[in-house]
Amino acid sequence: MKKLILIFALLLFASKGWVYSEIDSEEAESKATYKGPYDDETSGQRDARMAWWREARFGLFIHWGVYSVPAGTHKGEQIENIGEWIMHYGQIPVAEYQRYSKQFNPVDYDPEAWVLMAKNAGMKYIVITAKHHDGFALFDTAVSEWDIVDATPYGKDLLKPLAEAARKHDIKLGLYYSHAQDWVHPGGSFWDGHGWDPAQNGSMDDYLRDIAVPQVKELFTNYGEISILWWDTPIDMTPARAAMFDGLVELQPGIIVNNRLLYRHDGDLRTPEQNVPPTGLDYDWEACMTMNTTWGYKSYDDDWKSSEQLIRNLVDSASKGGNYLLNVGPMANGEIPQASIERLKDVGEWMSVNSSSIYGTTASPFIRLPWGRATKKEYPNATELYLHVFDWPEDGLLKVDGLRSEVSGAYFLADFQQQIQVNKTQEGIVLVLPDKPLDEIDTVIVLKITGKLDVERILPRQDGEGVLVLAMDDAHIHNPGYGGRLELRQDDNSTFYLDGWTDFQSRVDWLVRIDKPGIFDIYAEVAAEESASFLLMANDGQKPLTIKSSGGKQTFQTQHIGQLILSEGESTIGMHPQMSLWNPIMLRSVTLKPAENNPH
Ligand code: GLC
Repeated sequence: MKKLILIFALLLFASKGWVYSEIDSEEAESKATYKGPYDDETSGQRDARMAWWREARFGLFIHWGVYSVPAGTHKGEQIENIGEWIMHYGQIPVAEYQRYSKQFNPVDYDPEAWVLMAKNAGMKYIVITAKHHDGFALFDTAVSEWDIVDATPYGKDLLKPLAEAARKHDIKLGLYYSHAQDWVHPGGSFWDGHGWDPAQNGSMDDYLRDIAVPQVKELFTNYGEISILWWDTPIDMTPARAAMFDGLVELQPGIIVNNRLLYRHDGDLRTPEQNVPPTGLDYDWEACMTMNTTWGYKSYDDDWKSSEQLIRNLVDSASKGGNYLLNVGPMANGEIPQASIERLKDVGEWMSVNSSSIYGTTASPFIRLPWGRATKKEYPNATELYLHVFDWPEDGLLKVDGLRSEVSGAYFLADFQQQIQVNKTQEGIVLVLPDKPLDEIDTVIVLKITGKLDVERILPRQDGEGVLVLAMDDAHIHNPGYGGRLELRQDDNSTFYLDGWTDFQSRVDWLVRIDKPGIFDIYAEVAAEESASFLLMANDGQKPLTIKSSGGKQTFQTQHIGQLILSEGESTIGMHPQMSLWNPIMLRSVTLKPAENNPH
């Protein structure tokens, strides 16, 4: 079957330049042979099951395990990369790594304090690593000695008291479980296909049957209600292997499962890592992020994001319709780094005033607001629109272009008394604000809207000469549910550019409005070490184009890459990489100039 699909796909690829052929064949196969636990659910049942999670919008991720002992340093050498991967990046033999567990003694662990820290930050749920890729269980497992009870001086289950504290304080508990990668139990899979110690050799099917499946069963049986199962890195998982976990989800009725059990199986939610995806996606997602640059504790990683950044990331996620799962990496003694505690306190202060602009909200109705973000709550005959002002207007006039609805009231969440004047204009509305923000990070203004919400779609347009600039911060970035990490960055001059475009499955689209149609020359400002081919999608047609090497992966150059025809009206222009012809690029701008041969 697989072969047949592949041949068919290759034929299509040869004849039409079809890009996603191979992926689609795999997808077709895994969809055909793997049946997820909720595949037969109706959308109403699904909405009911997801309701608490969509309402919550904000959760705490905890990466904790034996890796917090070396904390980024092995045999005196600082090991690069994320801390919980130290065994892999340091190629530490199994027995040597296991010795670290003798120093894993979290006597200062205070699960109730952890739960309260999350709750006071405004978080509604916690997801903790029951077992990470190093195979170590934070819980008492009967199927392995490699757990907190048998392998450490501490000797007590860490999940039990956390589950109790969470229940006591009405916080939902989710469990992260690395089901495929396991670097200690023989047979677990590896990122690059192979281990580094003969002790790791074994059959993956045996490992799944003897370790992973029984452990998930233990987790679902011994800790009361579990609300989320957060699978991770489905390396070497096949539909048949995924099916070995069949029947377990039923032990926790209504549990939410993420998309990482099996590649290209969506689960209930997708999990963009370290980035916030674009708005308007028609599925549930949760952006998980670190506060510094590691998930598991590293003693010397002081690259902390500011509280401002974290609050704005939370708002950004909500404004795009998703959840924000923010990580802490506790130390081996059970303490959470002070820098994390302080930041969560700051987030909590902001949330104590503004949480109604986050909980239960849905995505912004605006395509783009130059000064910040918006979230909303819709009711049958009214809407509450929350304007999140990141950049306070210098002249005190906040323009909300495109808002056509009747605004019946406007107030600050931080001060209900202060008046805000609302003026209607040609473009939308303008709010007259005080000189200074009420909150430097994000002042939230509530607009009460009666009747139907009416927001005009304001799209990038051509200038007087007919030139259309596709700005990078207007780009809708699509990353595959798991894999690529194309993202928007800003350089030292605050110029936006796209970076991390390593995966051919990542793509970008711009929604534009064309007033002066015709033929356009396409100029791209790019940095590319090697040539990269993509399909340019416009007006429902597609055209293969190639970016040439610019002479280096950091060297920007403006290139004429071809022409396209655009007709009048709203249009989506997309750059979709071609599978085997794609190489990483950085992109600073795309400009469309009316061509000389333009008949208009
Ligand atoms: C990754 C990493 C991992 C981390 C996780 C968080 O897949 O392997 O260490 O736990 O993502 O999203």
